[in-house]
Amino acid sequence: GAGMKVILDTDPGIDDALAFILLKAMPEISLQAITVTHGNTTVEKCTTNALKLVELLGMRDVPVAMGATEPLVKTLSVAEETHGDTGLGHAVLPNPTTTIVESNAANLIIDIVNANPGEITILCIGPVTNLALALLKDPTLRKKIKNVVSMAGTIHYPGNATPSSEYNVFCDPESFDILLRSGIDLTIVPLDVTYQCLFTKAHIERLAGAREDVCNFIDRSTAFYMEFHAEYQGIQGCAINDPLAAAILVKPDLVKMRDYYVDIELHGEFTTAKISADHFNASGKAPNAKVAMEVDVDAFMDFFIERVKTL
Ligand code: BDR
Ligand code: CA
Repeated sequence: GAGMKVILDTDPGIDDALAFILLKAMPEISLQAITVTHGNTTVEKCTTNALKLVELLGMRDVPVAMGATEPLVKTLSVAEETHGDTGLGHAVLPNPTTTIVESNAANLIIDIVNANPGEITILCIGPVTNLALALLKDPTLRKKIKNVVSMAGTIHYPGNATPSSEYNVFCDPESFDILLRSGIDLTIVPLDVTYQCLFTKAHIERLAGAREDVCNFIDRSTAFYMEFHAEYQGIQGCAINDPLAAAILVKPDLVKMRDYYVDIELHGEFTTAKISADHFNASGKAPNAKVAMEVDVDAFMDFFIERVKTL
């Protein structure tokens, strides 16, 4: 179809699921594929979740590919305390009746980008292993990807995986390093902005009138996510990281971006997987990313709620 061509690379995951819902409610976007990675839970469970969501949302025409079972170098991490045993909190969705495509995630990314050179945006809302594998396998890809938007890292805000690192980057820092050095037009959406976007029961009430099954899914999945934030982080509400990264595809003015040279610590004693942004250009190196550093929280929440109500 018409519109911005996007591949969603994801590890669903509660906030990933909210990004699926928002993507369905953004007709500006033509979703080319969903590629799944390990992350919030195993790639097998994440893939089942992706298929369940595609069926809930009537998106069966979008190919779903399973991807990396583990990070490039590290051993696998999962976050079942954050997202629940299934990865979707307290939400229960029917077992999927559709299946994944034969191609694995990295190969599907390679094929779609080669068939649409210069046109594909990749929205990464999990560890970026699939993209790193694609870039390693086909070195011409970096010149053919239009841009990458990645929910990843934290600049000044505390880490949510270690004291200094964000979960997606923590899961596979070596893959994120490959992305940072790829020369691809890269937008980073870090915790600095996503942790401002706290979704609460009051927001759920504002969804009244939206599709009942979708509302029910949002209510049951985020209930678990809110319990996690309260118990482990002392935060009321839940940070809806991934949908913010999706939203800026069509509404970039929700955030203020800065061009930064961004680097990643791979062998730190305490800071492995911490990303840093060279605010004063102390390194003298040219910027390699646009980083979202401020967000209009109310505008984003309004956008999310309004769009979900269109479904
Ligand atoms: C990121 O990690 C995952 O738990 C979420 O789905 C999000 O993509 C936030 O750090
Ligand atoms: Ca995610």
